[in-house]
Amino acid sequence: MKPIPYGRQNITEKDIKAVTETLQSDFLTQGPKIEEFEKAFAKYIGCKYAVAISNGTAALHLCAMALDVNTNTNVITTPITFSASANCIRYCGGNVYFADINPDTFTLDLAKVEALINSKPKGFFKGIIPVDFAGHAVNLEAFKKLADKYNLWIIEDACHAPGGYFTDSSGKKQLCGNSNFADMAIFSFHPVKHIACGEGGMITTNNEELYKKLLLYRTHGITKNPELLIENHGGWYYEMQELGYNYRLTDFQAALGITQLERADEGLKRRKEIAKNYYEAFRNEKGIIKQSGVVDGHAYHLYIIEVENRKGLYDFLRSKNVFCQVHYIPVHTMPYYKKLGNKAGDFPVAEDYYEKCLSLPMYPTLTPDEQNYVIENIINFINN
Ligand SMILES: Cc1ncc(COP(=O)(O)O)c(C=O)c1O
Repeated sequence: MKPIPYGRQNITEKDIKAVTETLQSDFLTQGPKIEEFEKAFAKYIGCKYAVAISNGTAALHLCAMALDVNTNTNVITTPITFSASANCIRYCGGNVYFADINPDTFTLDLAKVEALINSKPKGFFKGIIPVDFAGHAVNLEAFKKLADKYNLWIIEDACHAPGGYFTDSSGKKQLCGNSNFADMAIFSFHPVKHIACGEGGMITTNNEELYKKLLLYRTHGITKNPELLIENHGGWYYEMQELGYNYRLTDFQAALGITQLERADEGLKRRKEIAKNYYEAFRNEKGIIKQSGVVDGHAYHLYIIEVENRKGLYDFLRSKNVFCQVHYIPVHTMPYYKKLGNKAGDFPVAEDYYEKCLSLPMYPTLTPDEQNYVIENIINFINN
């Protein structure tokens, strides 16, 4: 069997043509494809504004900036995420606090978040960054209720969940990142994600004021908009009004994003089929302690199982050319976050999850033969 990774991009002839055409156009960066991608993405997610950014990490950084995170800002996030979800707060000098995860969804535990808030003086925390980890949509209606109670903002890290949703209390599907319950949401277009741009990211919001700030911060804090200029010396004139960054996506990456987005639902459908196959194959296996399962609205960026001998299974599968991954090493146990006062033992549910979790191959072009090969090898290992 040829090597089977845990995730991979799916690039078609149409994608290649779109990129090539853009390379031959007048614009390589910030041309018409950026706006086209932003409009199409906003429509897909169901929000008012979308801002294309160079990657998901930069998107998180700009969200933190737009919410005025500074050295006095304390923010709560999950330890089971990619470190970027927490790092964005540190970039702005703020302090990161972790709350444990729910053992069933592997996402931030609402009750633990509230307990953490109540363990500090009133007004101590300013925001929460829930993560739709693995593609499991967080119930943001519940988080919004909590956020309103304690006057907190929400940045939804929806990197794993384009097309994912939860069902709100009125029975309505709420797509991840639609920002109906969050101030802003972010996405990543890294190749293992649903939509690949090479590198790339997107911020979605319904808040016009934040949207305008994001546009400014994305490109050095510079504006040429005559309505915003403080002075105006002529056609060449621009002003740097804030300290921003160069976090722009290129036009040819946006061209790829557009054609990838056109196939997002197709890819999601295939991910759901793969998830169902794993679920059916493992549901009666005693050696599988937990699995992502079949969950309404799950976007299946990852399909995760928990097993007792995770390292053994990981090494065995590698020897069979199956390259699984572990998502994630709890962020609070990273040496950097330990230096900031966190320690192993702080979040037992997250740490127990980490000891056992394994992300199985999950991408639309995984063939039935490949998936069966993965399943057979897992079952062989756990039963021997
Ligand atoms: C949950 C989560 N947040 C943020 C990021 C950062 O995105 P990027 O790699 O595009 O910077 C990633 C991607 O790896 C992620 O998985």
